[in-house]
Amino acid sequence: MTEQVVTPWKVEGKIDYLKLIERFGCDPIDGKLIKRFEKVTNVKAHPWLRRGIFFSNKDLNSILDDYEKGKQIYLYTGRGPSSEVMHLGHLIPFMFTKYLQDTFDAILVIQMSDDEKFYFKGNSEGKRVEDYNRLTYENAKDIIACGFNVDKTYIFSNFKTCGGDLYQNTVRVLNSVTGNKIKAIYGLDLDCTNGQLVWPSFQCSPAYSNSFPDILHKDGKYSDELPDGSKSYVGEHIRCLVPMAIDQDPYFRMARDFADRYKHQGYLKPSTIHTKFLVSLGGIGAKMSSSGNEPTLYLNDTMKEIKSKVNKYAYSGGKETLELHKKYGGNLNVDVSYQYLLYFCDDDLVLRDIAHKYRSGEMLSGEIKKIMIEYVSKIIQEHQDSKSKITPEILRKFFTRNREFDYSRKERSEIELEEDSVYDNYGVGFDREFGAKPSEEVLEYESKLYTF
Ligand code: TRP
Repeated sequence: MTEQVVTPWKVEGKIDYLKLIERFGCDPIDGKLIKRFEKVTNVKAHPWLRRGIFFSNKDLNSILDDYEKGKQIYLYTGRGPSSEVMHLGHLIPFMFTKYLQDTFDAILVIQMSDDEKFYFKGNSEGKRVEDYNRLTYENAKDIIACGFNVDKTYIFSNFKTCGGDLYQNTVRVLNSVTGNKIKAIYGLDLDCTNGQLVWPSFQCSPAYSNSFPDILHKDGKYSDELPDGSKSYVGEHIRCLVPMAIDQDPYFRMARDFADRYKHQGYLKPSTIHTKFLVSLGGIGAKMSSSGNEPTLYLNDTMKEIKSKVNKYAYSGGKETLELHKKYGGNLNVDVSYQYLLYFCDDDLVLRDIAHKYRSGEMLSGEIKKIMIEYVSKIIQEHQDSKSKITPEILRKFFTRNREFDYSRKERSEIELEEDSVYDNYGVGFDREFGAKPSEEVLEYESKLYTF
């Protein structure tokens, strides 16, 4: 088994997520938190919360506290534009962010870290600043296609935007960490370029609301005009929630440390919520990626390509012969199609049925692949349709700062909560097999089959 490595630049091996969040000092999302989420927001928990896919957080409760009191909060996430098209795994944090935007009626800022990609890939890929900046706008279309509300969303290229208030915060963070600390948190060292060493502070600074006073604090308290006509924001901050894949957490540990040090100046620690990685088609030992040799589902793949990739590559938990499969059934934990259905088949009753039929051997590997292809094709087809409707004007509007944003909050009627025993099964402890447990004999047989 490959050893587990998780840094913002490298994710390797089969990941023990509970160990990982313990190491990172984060908290698992359990049924109790999910119940409170539903109670406060009056919105049903997203299937990815229920099923333990968004499985970890830091201070989500503080966001719920503020929301409950009617206070404004905002969302921040980002994307390092490194490829022409994004793949299915990239979409997970953004689809969930869209759900959070709708749930909290919150303003969202999205950092396109084209500078980060130039620092970390420019030299090895032989690409220029302009190349990564161009990818910002390409990738932004894939992001916008998730359905973000343009009146509540601001997308920015770091190259084009890192000045003013945002830059002042970056400078504060830069000035609060030593090189040794950067080395300890990120494993960067003196063989790295200057750009790489300073980069982390640039990812932290959008997590403070006074980085965007014109958007987040329109009516707030400002200083007198400075000689150049600008003003500084001197009012209270609002809280930030950052949805992300778990590998990005080190940045926000640093962002929280900084806020703690600067709390006398009104800084608030950003809250975080983390997703697991979508596994590679090739097997649960790797995440979906566009840089390695793993087979990948791209967002511009044709439906035909999706079908043939899944049929050819999707690692199967089924057995070698029909006879063996009928006897021992399919292994849900290693079956990639089943893992994808946990993401994309929202209906617990439908998924439960699949789990039991596949585990018992009644459903064959080809059949579960076919079902997975249907669900994944639907997601990707919808994505492509949505992307094709993005006009240059819409794209430009997302990147425009000086415009009206919509701060309104919908009134929602109270939703009915589940029994506590139902919540007990939600979150990290979710029974991903829906009770379809293999027998001792099957376990014994399967223990010899897999090496990861
Ligand atoms: N570093 C991220 C990447 O490589 C991009 C990013 C920038 C980001 N700011 C963020 C991700 C904030 C999550 C939250 O893709």
